[in-house]
Amino acid sequence: MANTASTIKRPVALGVALDRVDGRAKVTGSASYTGDISPDGAAYAVLVQSTIARGSISKIDSSKAESLEGVLAIFSHQNPPHPPKQTRKGKAKPGSAGEFFLEDNKIFYHGQIIAMVVADSLELAQHAASLISIKYRRLQAETIMDSRRKSLKNAESEGNGRRGNTKEALSKASIKIKATYTTPTESHNPMEPFATTAVWEADALTLYDSTQAVTNTRKKVAAALGISDTRVRVISHFVGGGFGCKLSSWSHVALTAMAARKIQRPVKLTMARSQMFGPVGFRPSTLQTITLGAQKNGKLTAIKHETISETSKFTDFVEAASAVSLNSYTCKNVITSQRIAPLDIGHPTWMRAPGHACGSFALESALDELACELKMNPLALRLKNFAEKDPSSGLPWSSNALKKCYQSGAERFGWHQRKAKTGSFKRDGLLIGMGMATAMHSVWRNSSSALVRIMADGTALAQAGTQEIGTGTKTIMSQIAAERLGLPPDAVKFELGDSDLPVAPLSGGSTTTGSVGPAVAAAADKALQKLINLAVNDKQSPLYGVSGETIYAEEGYLKIGGATKKDAFTAILARAACKFVEGQSEHKPGDEEEHYSLSTFGAQFVEVAVDPLLSTIRVVRATGAFSGGRIINAKTARSQMTGGIIFGIGMALMEQTVMDPSTDHYVNNNLGEYYVPVNADCPAIDAFFVEDEDHHVNTLGVKGIGELGITGVAAAIANAVFNATGKRVRDLPITLDKLI
Ligand code: MOS
Repeated sequence: MANTASTIKRPVALGVALDRVDGRAKVTGSASYTGDISPDGAAYAVLVQSTIARGSISKIDSSKAESLEGVLAIFSHQNPPHPPKQTRKGKAKPGSAGEFFLEDNKIFYHGQIIAMVVADSLELAQHAASLISIKYRRLQAETIMDSRRKSLKNAESEGNGRRGNTKEALSKASIKIKATYTTPTESHNPMEPFATTAVWEADALTLYDSTQAVTNTRKKVAAALGISDTRVRVISHFVGGGFGCKLSSWSHVALTAMAARKIQRPVKLTMARSQMFGPVGFRPSTLQTITLGAQKNGKLTAIKHETISETSKFTDFVEAASAVSLNSYTCKNVITSQRIAPLDIGHPTWMRAPGHACGSFALESALDELACELKMNPLALRLKNFAEKDPSSGLPWSSNALKKCYQSGAERFGWHQRKAKTGSFKRDGLLIGMGMATAMHSVWRNSSSALVRIMADGTALAQAGTQEIGTGTKTIMSQIAAERLGLPPDAVKFELGDSDLPVAPLSGGSTTTGSVGPAVAAAADKALQKLINLAVNDKQSPLYGVSGETIYAEEGYLKIGGATKKDAFTAILARAACKFVEGQSEHKPGDEEEHYSLSTFGAQFVEVAVDPLLSTIRVVRATGAFSGGRIINAKTARSQMTGGIIFGIGMALMEQTVMDPSTDHYVNNNLGEYYVPVNADCPAIDAFFVEDEDHHVNTLGVKGIGELGITGVAAAIANAVFNATGKRVRDLPITLDKLI
């Protein structure tokens, strides 16, 4: 549990604003993303998707497509790429992707994969796909969430909880507010679409896949193919954004591998943007009702938070938005619940701070409404209810610098300039409003393994089967290994994105740096220990006979105090005639969670300008102060938080996947009509970290911050819009029509 990293004397390569080690490759285009990989002889696959949401296929006529020269195969339930006995067994498990491998003619949602065309060229496959005629038996579908529906189900979720007696506390509360907030379906829309290329050699498969989880993908695909994990290798060197949708291995991945096995050629599939609305997940819409009870001084006495979220009819996915109300503020009486509305839609999944992003919109908006009712400064209200310990478990925080975030964020933003009276601040004819919210995200930890080699040439090689999803993992892991080995970061080569490497967890839930980092550090320590053993046992070494504990590594040397004696890594390995020394580690989180509550925190402040005539809304500036334990790379960490705030702007003002209930399909299934913030939508963003030392979370003191940045942003913006206009918009996104 001790933070050993801070007690051992080492040159510090951590915390600095190091440029991305793969930055040049990415900006020059030399980085090979999955879609860039074209093995010799590859055939091209194109998906055909259902145009109805519920029913079955009565007829598929693919004769025209089949007659084209160069069309290699057309797979459908009439001609599945797997043995016919392989049928879908019952319902997919909650949280799993709900896979459809063309087992039968049943349709569960619009966009479900119903056929795959494989041809010599992409254009031919696309043309052939357009010639397939499909007849359906269409049944009435439900594709829009309606909270009055009787078919709502209670859901198992961390968002269910209770303490105290909320009903009684609400009846006694001096001040009470109740409001319902909604968040729409949102699509991840990573810049890089889903892409998969399957290459078989005999009975072994190499799968190039754009995934946040090479090991899970290997497992899933092997299971679908009915072969052993050891026969599958998944490679994903660069991922052009995932945001949660690439945590799962969706149907198209194993289907591509099945097709390649069947036609005995490599098969390459890249999804078109429009094809990614439905079969590869989305953030489910939520309807959240919050009731708050408080004393006149602002002290919260009761919180009730009820969430309904949409899910598919074949999987129970829960958007655990109510969970934020359990541990954000001190409050004796809390009740939270989660229900789900099963619809004829695809399988929803995790997206950008699942639960937290939606939940904090509702809770932090409700607090703003309460502050308004109390005529209290919204920041003062948060401070009044600050949780000195985790109010849900009663455990102390492993570390918590939220008060510092409130204070330094307010200062840097200039929160004191906010006018309490709505609509009273004008600049250049625009209504100016300021809003704030608390940011918070759980800290989860996973087991990971890693390998580090110190090479004969004095460099190091580090490996872990984690993924580079754009967050800077390759850079950060190089830094961690470099720091342990006393080498400059550019002397470390870090390899990832390959299921043949030491097993590491999926890249999600803000867990990577805190889970893989300690494994890399431990493997580096072991490699270094071996090098030290070589030196102290070697009569030719200046360190011969020296006690190992007094030796440290610096600039490619092993040294003792004041560098009175030193020996070069290269010299030690040359004399020992070793190509390298190697350390391997298996890092598991300890029992810290039994004694501490682990969380990251922050404070979001935004200023908006609203045109009183046109109702257009712009975020003018945003300040985010964050507390996330030890920061390994100041630059990539800041980028993460900036990116989170930008996607918070998207969530607040733009993003929504619009279902047309008359056709049961998403009408804005493209980046022209699914708006995400672009540079012109993004103001100057001041994202920074306050000092926060966590001595409990892991050996590195790292908490993981990937998802923290988006939390609270939508509420801060909604609160600022209210401050500017006096209009409380409780339904995201806040589009201008809602202000008229
Ligand atoms: Mo994230 S939603 O855990 O990729």
